[in-house]
Amino acid sequence: MPGAPGSEAGPAAPGLIMDIDIAVVPVAGLGTRLLPATKSQPKEMLPVGRKPVVQYVVEELARVGVKQLLFVTGPGKTSIENHFDLNPELIQTLRETGKEELLQELAFERAAVQFFYTRQRQLLGLGHAVLCARSFVGRRPFIVALGDSIIGMHAESDVVRRMARCFLERDALAVVAFEEVPRDEVVHYGIAAPRSAGDVFEIGDVVEKPAREEAPSTLAIAARYVFSPEIFDALERTPPSKGGEIQLTDAIRTLIQEGGRAYGVRLKADEPRYDIGNIDAYFRAFVEFALADSRHGAAIRRHLETLLHVPHP
Ligand code: UTP
Repeated sequence: MPGAPGSEAGPAAPGLIMDIDIAVVPVAGLGTRLLPATKSQPKEMLPVGRKPVVQYVVEELARVGVKQLLFVTGPGKTSIENHFDLNPELIQTLRETGKEELLQELAFERAAVQFFYTRQRQLLGLGHAVLCARSFVGRRPFIVALGDSIIGMHAESDVVRRMARCFLERDALAVVAFEEVPRDEVVHYGIAAPRSAGDVFEIGDVVEKPAREEAPSTLAIAARYVFSPEIFDALERTPPSKGGEIQLTDAIRTLIQEGGRAYGVRLKADEPRYDIGNIDAYFRAFVEFALADSRHGAAIRRHLETLLHVPHP
């Protein structure tokens, strides 16, 4: 089994336990589109509002009952491991210096999740990163959650729970989260060809980054997946795409072409995906989270209104 057990703490929150309780979080990518911010720090550790992006991802997974979480990491990513360690010295210092109110900011350290880490030793794409989890996952169904994407304001989304339910009820090999995007943006995403309508639909095909005119729909893959371990065999058989990367989308396509069932679950209107992979999306996400901050949001809003010359009533 790759990686080493990390911190394990606290009892599970009641009523949240799912049958699928293992998640793989790929965080090995270089994040070149966010240079220079990502030159010496992982993009997954960039803050959105008060927290690093990957903390929202872990909190979302812990909330729906994930018990074991494997990070697929790479060079320069150790700050992610450090972030999820228990830090008794810091807790002690906050107590001794009378900053007890800040202790709640460290509550995430006590999430009932056991952390594991393995390295993607060559950056051969997202599909390859998932393949690195094979011996850890074994024969269990599992979740994949991209470490650079938050689902829902404050990560308040239960889409993974809905996906796990769909996976179990429909005997699927893959369940993928989708959100509608403007047609001009399909070139950035894996896009579904749905076989049916509705919030949960059967996927007839998925195409990675299609041209605008060739996209079968405007339903874009949204950073969350539930897989049967069959996906590993499909990944092994998936040749690298033009850019030399093994695409997770291509492996899902193989599963479908070989007769496996795959379903899409749409994100709800109140659970947008914040993918911070490029500067524009990162800025937008930060502004939205800052505006939604319970303590500072109102002041930031007034400041922005002043900057933008919005007349005050
Ligand atoms: P991206 O597709 O945004 O790629 O990764 P990237 O390499 O991080 O970023 P750019 O294109 O250089 O700007 C989506 C998620 O998949 C992980 C990333 O860490 C991110 O969380 N990933 C991507 C891997 O773990 N390994 C890879 O080889 C590629």
